[in-house]
Amino acid sequence: MISTVLTLPCGVTLNNRLVKSAMTERISNRKYEPTKGHQQLYEDWALTGAGLLITGNVVIDRTHLESAGNVCFDDDKMLPKLKSWAASGKKLGNHIWVQISHSGRQTNRFGTARPLAPSEVQLKKLGLFGKPKAMTEQDIQNVIKGFTKAAKLAKEAGFTGVQIHAAHGYLLSQFLSPNTNFRTDHWGGSLENRSRLLITIIREVRKIVVADFPISVKLNSADFQRGGFSEEDSLEVVKMLDQEKIDLLEISGGTYEKLAFFLMNEEGSELKESTKQREAYFIDFAKKIRAVSKLPLMITGGFRSYDFCNEVLSNGEVDLIGMARPFITNREDISSFLKGELSHLNNLVLRTGLKQFEDAAEGGFYARQLIRFSKGKGLKTNMNPLWCSMFLVLYEFRKAMAKKLS
Ligand SMILES: Cc1cc2nc3c(=O)[nH]c(=O)nc-3n(C[C@H](O)[C@H](O)[C@H](O)COP(=O)(O)O)c2cc1C
Repeated sequence: MISTVLTLPCGVTLNNRLVKSAMTERISNRKYEPTKGHQQLYEDWALTGAGLLITGNVVIDRTHLESAGNVCFDDDKMLPKLKSWAASGKKLGNHIWVQISHSGRQTNRFGTARPLAPSEVQLKKLGLFGKPKAMTEQDIQNVIKGFTKAAKLAKEAGFTGVQIHAAHGYLLSQFLSPNTNFRTDHWGGSLENRSRLLITIIREVRKIVVADFPISVKLNSADFQRGGFSEEDSLEVVKMLDQEKIDLLEISGGTYEKLAFFLMNEEGSELKESTKQREAYFIDFAKKIRAVSKLPLMITGGFRSYDFCNEVLSNGEVDLIGMARPFITNREDISSFLKGELSHLNNLVLRTGLKQFEDAAEGGFYARQLIRFSKGKGLKTNMNPLWCSMFLVLYEFRKAMAKKLS
């Protein structure tokens, strides 16, 4: 099953069912443009043979980066560089889609002291995030225009699709969650109002890219926080998405406050035991989605074995398999995995032994590998976990300083 083609509602066909999910690259130049490093990364990933490569999140607003080194899709002048990036990801007839995002309150202080968000609900994490300003109607209209402009640029540059990032606690996910959206206008309150920004963006993007260009949405199954975006909310949003012209729904979960998307199989995670036993984090939720939606479905998080991937594809539980970390730790093995010559992709897990540092260490470890790959270097397995846990904060600080001094 994993090596069979899939035709999407817009008519476009993917060569197989394996997808590299988004991983933020952090390697733009100081003008927020892509670099030769992006080409290096995506040429190598194209050679894995995966049918679809989804880029790390690119942002629509330079003042709202998810990470230092994000590319910002806001300027026609960068088209030649965007074209080179797009071309690098299609070497084996792969698709390459751009994940478009706005970080909202999850923009760190190094970038913006007072980020924009639906409401003034501050993210409390190591003092790294400033108190947000509630967005005005004009701010919201600018965000809609920003997503539309980014999608237009992506298509002009030769990317073969876009993904609208409405998961992981970024701006669109903040609008969806009752914990972060206290608005009393038509962008807040009922779930229909909280979904309005996402739905409006999908419609505006569809107008600009027209009918035959894939649009995907990445959505949380839940935020895993009391009072937050719940599974019930998520299913209702899926029903709304089902009425829209989209081509792929990707399911993940969690926010910066609860990093479910890569520490899900850890002790104390919110997952039911039955799900833990089934390798992929959100697979139980897939069944519920299938009951309310006909959209092509991809689940990301935890997939590692050939038999399990084929089982859930054959059962019709999902249409595509989303994987991220194996595209770092097992890059060279993925083409054999796709052919069924390798049964497992065992990604490395880095542990500091200190609970409060684990997610930072994991994030730092993978970020450092991506930066290495972008320079043509290989995987480095023996990294110091404590240094990895500090890496990202120092990286943000160093890049912000370099920007101020330039
Ligand atoms: C280094 C790194 C960067 C990531 N960046 C993004 C991102 O830009 N956008 C996104 O939606 N998810 C991002 N993720 C989450 C992955 O897409 C994926 O959901 C998660 O790693 C779980 O899948 P896996 O178990 O196959 O790694 C990132 C994960 C890693 C490890």
